[in-house]
Amino acid sequence: MQLSFAAPQPVNAGAWVVGAVEGPALLPAAQKADTACGGAISRALKVSRFKGKPGQMLEVLAPEGAKASRIVVLGLGKPGELDGNAVENAAAGAVGAMSKAGETSVTLEIDAPKGGKLKAGPLAAHVAMGARLKSYTFNHYRTKDLDDHEFKLKSVVVATSDAAGARKAWPALEAVADGMFLARDLVNEPPNILSPVEFANRAKQLSKLGVKVEVLGEAEMKKLGMGALLGVGQGSERDSQLVVMRWNGARKKSDAPVAFVGKGVCFDSGGLSLKTGAGMIGMKGDMGGGAAVIGAMQALARRKARVNAVGVIGLVENMPSGTAQRPDDVVKSMSGQTIEVLNTDAEGRLVLADALTYTQRNFKPKFVIDLATLTGAIMVALGSEHAGLFSNDDKLSKRLHEAGRAVGEPVWRLPLGPGYDKMIRSKIADMKNITGSTYAGSIAAAQFLQRFVDKGQAWAHLDIAGMAWQDGEQKALVPSWGVGFGVRLLDRLVAEHYED
Ligand code: BES
Ligand code: MN
Ligand code: ZN
Repeated sequence: MQLSFAAPQPVNAGAWVVGAVEGPALLPAAQKADTACGGAISRALKVSRFKGKPGQMLEVLAPEGAKASRIVVLGLGKPGELDGNAVENAAAGAVGAMSKAGETSVTLEIDAPKGGKLKAGPLAAHVAMGARLKSYTFNHYRTKDLDDHEFKLKSVVVATSDAAGARKAWPALEAVADGMFLARDLVNEPPNILSPVEFANRAKQLSKLGVKVEVLGEAEMKKLGMGALLGVGQGSERDSQLVVMRWNGARKKSDAPVAFVGKGVCFDSGGLSLKTGAGMIGMKGDMGGGAAVIGAMQALARRKARVNAVGVIGLVENMPSGTAQRPDDVVKSMSGQTIEVLNTDAEGRLVLADALTYTQRNFKPKFVIDLATLTGAIMVALGSEHAGLFSNDDKLSKRLHEAGRAVGEPVWRLPLGPGYDKMIRSKIADMKNITGSTYAGSIAAAQFLQRFVDKGQAWAHLDIAGMAWQDGEQKALVPSWGVGFGVRLLDRLVAEHYED
C-alpha cells in the first residue's frame, strides 16, 4: 500500500472519504464533495440514519458530476472527543470498508473540526496511521484464495491543508506501526516455525538499526544459575534462549536505562500439567509479551529515541516429555530463592523470575516493566478491554495508565499486598508457583514476580493474556489474530517521560 500526504486537490478516481461530526455536520471537505456531486450527499443524509457517530459511514456510489468512484462521509463523533486514537479508529474503519468493497485507491480528506484536540497536520498523520495499521495481513501460509485475504488498496492519499506538518509527524508513527507489525508477525507465526532460537534470530535483525543484541544459550544460563527458566524449557527438544537488546540513544550516555522484560513462551502445552486440547489452541501466542518488547525496541531504534533502553526476553518451549519438569520439583532461581513447582503450567512466572533478576543485576534500570500473557484469570477480571497492571510504584502506574489511554492500549491497576503474598508460601521451599485457591490468580502471579524485584526498584507487571491476540470480535485497528499489544504503550511511555 502506497501512502502519501498531499494538499487537497480534485479526486479523479477511487473513493473519496470526507468527514462529518456528530449532528451530523459536514466538515468543509464534505461540503465541497456535496457540491461536486450536485447535492447528492445532502439528499442521502435526509433519507439515512447517519448521525456522524464515530466510525459511522454514509456512502454515495458513482456520484454524478464527481469523478470519484464513490464518496464516503465518515463519522468522527463529537469534536471534543476526537483524539489521535479516535481518528485512527475511524480512518481504519473506512479504509477497511473500501478494501472490502474492491477499491484500489482512496483519498482521505478529513478536516480538523473546530473544538477538536488535533491540528490539521497531526490529525492527517493519525489518519495515515489508521490506514497503515489496517493494511496489515499475515498470509505467508496461504497457497490459494489469496484474493479473499489480501488488502486491496494500492494507494492511500491523505489530503490535508498541512501536508508538511503531517509529513513531520509521520515518521515517529510509522516507526511504531513497524514495531507493531513485527510483534504481530511473531504472535501469528506458528510454533513449529517460531522456536526460541528462531525468535532469537529475528531479534538479532535489530542490530541493523543499531540495537546491540546478545543471545544467551542454555550453557550460559546454567552458569548464571537460571534454574527457574531452564526448568521450564527442559522438557523441550529445543534450546531455551535469553535475548538481551540494548538501545543507547540518550544524550547522556551514562543515563540509567529503562528496562522491558518479556515472557517468551513460544508454545505453552502446560508441560506435564498438560492443558486440554482446546486450552492449548492459541498458545503459540504465549510469547506476546516478548513480542511487545522486541517491537518496542525496534520502534525506539527506528525513531532514534533519546533514551537508553534494554529489552530482555526469556524464550522457552513448555513441553511434556521424559526430561520435562515434574509437579513437585524444586528449582533454584538466579536470585538464589528456591521455588516449589506444583503446576508446570504456571511457567511464565518461572521464566520471568530469572529474566527479572538478570535485568536488575546487569543494568540497574530506572524502572523495569515486564509484559506477559501470564494468567487466564486476568481475562476473567478484565476481559479484552484492559491489560492488568500491578506495580510497586504509583508514579510509574499513573504514567502507564495515561499512556495506555492515549494510544488505545488501556491498562487497569489491581492490588498487591502481604495477604496475597501469603498465598504462595511453600511447605518446603521459599515459595510455590501456584496457590491452593481458585481466587485472585492474577494477583498471586504478580505477587510471585514481586519476590524477584529488588528493594527500591521501581517495577510494573502487565498481564496481557486478554490483549495479545483476539479470538472474538476484531478491533478496528487490528486486522489479524495477533494484536501487537504493548508496543505503542511502551513507546508512548518513553516518548512522554523518559527522553532527554
Ligand atoms: N499462558 C498461560 C496463561 C493464558 C491462558 C494466556 C489463557 C492466555 C489465555 C499461563 O502460562 C498459564 O497456563 N496459566 C495458568 C496458571 C495456573 C496454572 C495457576 C492459568 O491461567 O490457568
Ligand atoms: Mn501455562
Ligand atoms: Zn504460559
